[in-house]
Amino acid sequence: MKIVVIFVVVVFVAVVASTAPGFKARITQKGLTYANKMAMLALSQSIRKLHIPDQSGKSGKVTYSITGMTIQSFTTPGSSMALKEGAGIRWSATGAGLSLHGDFHYKYKQGWIKISDHGSFDASLSGVSFSMTVKLGDAAGKPKLAGSGCSSGIGGVKIKFHGGASWLYNIFSHVIEGKVKGLLQNQMCQLVVAAVNTQANKQLAKLPMTVLVLKKFLLDYSLISNPTFDTKFLETMLKGEVFWNGARKECPFSPAPLPTTPDTSHMLYLWVSDYMGNSLAYSGFQHGFLQYNLTAKDLPPGNRSILNTTCSNFKCVGSFIPQIGKKYPNSQVLMRMHATAPPNVTISGGLINMNFAGNVDLYAKTAGGKTPFLLTITVVLDAKVNASIVKQLVKGTITSTNLKLDVKNSTVGTVSTTALQLVMNGALKLFILPQLNAQGQKGLVLPVTDNIHFQNAQLSLLKGALLISTDLSYSPSTDEDDLQPDKATLPDTRRDRAMSFHVVGQKQPDFNQI
Ligand SMILES: *[C@@H]1O[C@H](CO)[C@@H](O)[C@H](O)[C@H]1NC(C)=O
Ligand SMILES: *[C@@H]1O[C@H](CO)[C@@H](O)[C@H](O)[C@H]1NC(C)=O
Ligand SMILES: *[C@@H]1O[C@H](CO)[C@@H](O)[C@H](O)[C@H]1NC(C)=O
Ligand SMILES: *[C@@H]1O[C@H](CO)[C@@H](O)[C@H](O)[C@H]1NC(C)=O
Ligand SMILES: *[C@@H]1O[C@H](CO)[C@@H](O)[C@H](O)[C@H]1NC(C)=O
Ligand SMILES: *[C@@H]1O[C@H](CO)[C@@H](O)[C@H](O)[C@H]1NC(C)=O
Repeated sequence: MKIVVIFVVVVFVAVVASTAPGFKARITQKGLTYANKMAMLALSQSIRKLHIPDQSGKSGKVTYSITGMTIQSFTTPGSSMALKEGAGIRWSATGAGLSLHGDFHYKYKQGWIKISDHGSFDASLSGVSFSMTVKLGDAAGKPKLAGSGCSSGIGGVKIKFHGGASWLYNIFSHVIEGKVKGLLQNQMCQLVVAAVNTQANKQLAKLPMTVLVLKKFLLDYSLISNPTFDTKFLETMLKGEVFWNGARKECPFSPAPLPTTPDTSHMLYLWVSDYMGNSLAYSGFQHGFLQYNLTAKDLPPGNRSILNTTCSNFKCVGSFIPQIGKKYPNSQVLMRMHATAPPNVTISGGLINMNFAGNVDLYAKTAGGKTPFLLTITVVLDAKVNASIVKQLVKGTITSTNLKLDVKNSTVGTVSTTALQLVMNGALKLFILPQLNAQGQKGLVLPVTDNIHFQNAQLSLLKGALLISTDLSYSPSTDEDDLQPDKATLPDTRRDRAMSFHVVGQKQPDFNQI
């Protein structure tokens, strides 16, 4: 029995694991090096403007306050983010330093004895280092970072008092320095782990995991498995399937395995499979999205008379198909267009092809308010698409089309191929292509956040997918959360209280010992 259960589990895992992604992202070591640079920049900027709250309290018979603490300088550490095959990313930094200035004030009272003093102090930390593993995982389809295995160290702590009886305190400052070092050493890791687990995850949470497409569809960018870590890159597999919004149903075909590339010269690689287009086409077809009733008012005003059954300029349906002009003069033609099969998108041989198959039923809209059926044109349209990458969007433009037309159910006798071509070319040029190209220009939204910009982006067509290879530039938005203590990095005020207070030696023994 147990064996059967294990077998079922293994098979299930194998089935799940074999689900191919419709979208894939690769982040290279170059990308991580850049991410580290940006993270360190953000860190040093926010530490420089870190606001340290005043501290006050009572310790034994001593009441004290420490006020006006300001960061005087910060030394950015040497740091790196390096891939660890199969494990994650090792993030480490060495040689950070910090100096701060503040004022102190205390009162000691026991019986008749009262002592109070105040002055200022300068404190500095040097040789601060940390190293931790950052894992990127799949948390119910969303990417999530988790910092672990952190170790940290502090090279030195120096404290110098000024004013009051500072000559006395300075004699004992090494005692305080030792305490502060010990306390901070423990807190360093909490601080950097929190920076990853809270701050960085907050950024990740902004990734669009689903994108509304054409108002009616939902593109699903959720993770289908845990990211993999190679020596030169990490890769994440995303679903990359388009559903009818509100009626999520898997389409009956699966993505083909995505083509691969050994290239790691850019920071980021994104694979957009033709499966994304095909799942959209499929659910669109299933939900009757691929149909439209075309009338004269859908055309540019100067071209509307092409649907007239009577015209003097030989540029209307009535002159292309004279039987219609004769049978229903001074009327307008209505075209009911609908797909008869799900359109197909294929990327191969360096081309993107789209195939549509549909029927166009022609009706006459007579002055008397009747709409007699005329004929059905069966249409097979092959279109070639030029894809380009503009900013962070993939845009498409139809560059050429080929129409195969035939007639069915004609109530007006035989119709020449030339006449069909004239009618359908008109509809294609005046309506269908402008509509498709307008959608194509809206572009495909990729799973990147607003503050990421592509640099030197290239687009190449592989078998079954288009591949975007790009470098990145990150520009923090102005409303971006800094590493302020009241925000996410320092998880609670308790911690930053401790952090700043420890610098002058918090624990009771410190004052009592002196
Ligand atoms: C087109 O017109 C027909 C007949 O009036 C109607 O049944 C159909 O729903 C219309 N299709 C669209 C997409 O408006
Ligand atoms: C649409 O109208 C413009 C201006 O009248 C004309 O040049 C063009 O040929 C027309 N297009 C078609 C497809 O009839
Ligand atoms: C087409 O029909 C409309 C409405 O019947 C009419 O106003 C227009 O003049 C016609 N166009 C031509 C070129 O005859
Ligand atoms: C798309 O491919 C499917 C499966 O091969 C086929 O049934 C369908 O007719 C194709 N659609 C078009 C528009 O060629
Ligand atoms: C495709 O689009 C790109 C970018 O807009 C352009 O440079 C290129 O010439 C286009 N190719 C074709 C065949 O239209
Ligand atoms: C065209 O004829 C076929 C039978 O040949 C019929 O099933 C279909 O409904 C007809 N279509 C229209 C639009 O009349």
